Amino acid sequence: MLPQLLHWFASCPRGLEELLVRELAELGITASAVPGGVAFAGGWDACYRSNLWSRLASRILWRIGEFRYRNEQEVYAAARAVDWPRYFGVERMLRVNVTAQKSPLKSLEFATLRIKDAVVDRFRDALGKRPSVERANPDVRVHAFLEADRGTLYLDTSGEPLFKRGWRAGPAEAPLRENLAAGIIMLTGWQPQEPLLDPMCGGGTLLAEAAAMARGRAPGAKRRFAFEQLNAFDAALWERVKREPAAKETSPQLYGSDNDAKALSAARRNLAEAGVERWVELAQADVLERTSPAPSGVMVMNPPYGERMGTPDELARFYPRLGDALKQRFAGWRCYIFTADLRLPQLIRLQPSRRTPLWNGALECRLYELKIVSGSHRR
Ligand SMILES: C[S@@+](CC[C@H](N)C(=O)[O-])C[C@H]1O[C@@H](n2cnc3c(N)ncnc32)[C@H](O)[C@@H]1O
Repeated sequence: MLPQLLHWFASCPRGLEELLVRELAELGITASAVPGGVAFAGGWDACYRSNLWSRLASRILWRIGEFRYRNEQEVYAAARAVDWPRYFGVERMLRVNVTAQKSPLKSLEFATLRIKDAVVDRFRDALGKRPSVERANPDVRVHAFLEADRGTLYLDTSGEPLFKRGWRAGPAEAPLRENLAAGIIMLTGWQPQEPLLDPMCGGGTLLAEAAAMARGRAPGAKRRFAFEQLNAFDAALWERVKREPAAKETSPQLYGSDNDAKALSAARRNLAEAGVERWVELAQADVLERTSPAPSGVMVMNPPYGERMGTPDELARFYPRLGDALKQRFAGWRCYIFTADLRLPQLIRLQPSRRTPLWNGALECRLYELKIVSGSHRR
């Protein structure tokens, strides 16, 4: 029998760790934050529930081994000491991922290969057969995290990362990851009874996440999880977790616009695929000319920022005009701008009331809060 109290690590975009602790608390899970994620102890119900319901986590990893090491050989020995056939069947396709922080090893690729050899050797010794390796579409992912002299081995219970909700219909320009978008919406403090507008909505990620929250939709309802491939999978428990009562449904008022017709049609397709299109009013408009759909509300946007779209000079000309448009037409609104362009507060000529650091992958960004009052002060 596997032990009941298991150890889990939920990874998330950096900057969202505390929010993830709070989100998991609402699922009855007590977690503690570390950079890049949160750790918690619990049974399989906690694993299934967090995979199904977390809007912020990227993956839920099951910690199955910890070790000390100085070189590749010791990493191999530690991975070889794990009873892998106890965890998954030899017919499962395997992938090994290694991430490291301050590891003395010269090549992570070689470490990855050694861990894969260790898993395969353990199977061969026990069963005379070995699992095959599949990089693109594995059934089982083993993750190793190597620090200066310690390593941790995990089995991934999510599979495809959790920000893949199963509704993205087609490619869009520079879309946000769904879990980062959900985090941004949560950081705005938006309540479903308030109007919400994304006037640079692109493929509609922020709108889809806000709609899913308001409708009480489980973010994982349309996808599968890697825990279904593990020996410990308890189908009856999974059915029970899926039947647990969902959050309350509300009827949000969501608005999206973009000046690009292609972006809008991607948004339309994504929102339909997510089953939330009836809650979102979409229109083609330039943010500089867009009128406000309600006397007050929450505006959230992710303008292009140099890295992928829009040159720095174009943006430097755009921000002051955006600031003017907000002051003229959005008095009474709370505006949130997510960007990697740290010149924004100066150039937009509005004083942010809050700036939250967040990472979009390796890119350091900020979520700026601007409260627009009539005649908002110029600096
Ligand atoms: C970084 S993308 C937004 C991505 C979106 N948050 C998502 O996750 O799908 C920026 C969007 O701003 C739009 N855009 C650029 N300039 C605009 C303007 N002046 N008015 C309205 N939309 C604009 C672009 O067409 C693009 O879709």
